[in-house]
Amino acid sequence: MRIVVLTGAGISAESGLATFRDAGGLWEGHSVADVATPEGYARDPDTVLAFYDERRRIAASALPNAAHFALARLEEAQGDGLLVVTQNVDDLHERAGTRRLVHMHGELFRALCTRCHARTPWIGDLRGRPECPHCGARALRPDVVWFGEMPYGLDRIEEAVSEADVFVSVGTSGEVYPAAGYAALAAAHGARTVELNLVPSDPVIPFDEVRAGPATTVVPAWVDDVLAEA
Ligand code: APR
Repeated sequence: MRIVVLTGAGISAESGLATFRDAGGLWEGHSVADVATPEGYARDPDTVLAFYDERRRIAASALPNAAHFALARLEEAQGDGLLVVTQNVDDLHERAGTRRLVHMHGELFRALCTRCHARTPWIGDLRGRPECPHCGARALRPDVVWFGEMPYGLDRIEEAVSEADVFVSVGTSGEVYPAAGYAALAAAHGARTVELNLVPSDPVIPFDEVRAGPATTVVPAWVDDVLAEA
């Protein structure tokens, strides 16, 4: 069985990382145009670098939760049959043990050199304009995908979604494309679609199954059910 799991900020909420559009979410306290667009970065790089430095520090001290671990357990059982596609820029999936993973919106723990385009693992702050380890330019930005930029891995994702038998959306509001279109793409190719979310989203095409609840409860329970059926 081929399974694609798409995750959003909701899977990391119980690890203490804020979502974007929920009450108290990141987009309540910050303007998307200021901190999540290339234009905002060009206008005021210090504010943007500080925003991601802060998020990187918070993410570094967060721990994966039962939902991340359950997906790693599913990969152990499914091997190549599972692909996790995350919109999250934290590293909690990989720290839980997931290996077949696409970070479509990039990674907080990487820096992108705007001069030589190298992508480098990065744990420190970017605010002080450190040198790019490849070309030496002080031109590093967070390797996250901003609005108006192309997400990573689209070909691989679309191929996997089109071939999936089961498509599962976890903790995402479905407000941001192209991720928001993947459930419909999977359904058009015959997949069964499932949503696991604290508050179910309002999709264009309804999911075949919806399980409402916190990720740390509903994701392990869904994984148990998949493994019991196998
Ligand atoms: N368990 C499960 N789901 C939860 C939990 C939880 N404990 N807490 C919140 N959620 C759900 C909400 O119900 C909502 O559907 O997580 C979702 C969070 O939605 P958003 O804040 O819109 O986050 P996301 O869907 O990941 O956003 C997509 O928008 O700006 C961006 O690039 C950013 O990747 C992000 C993209």
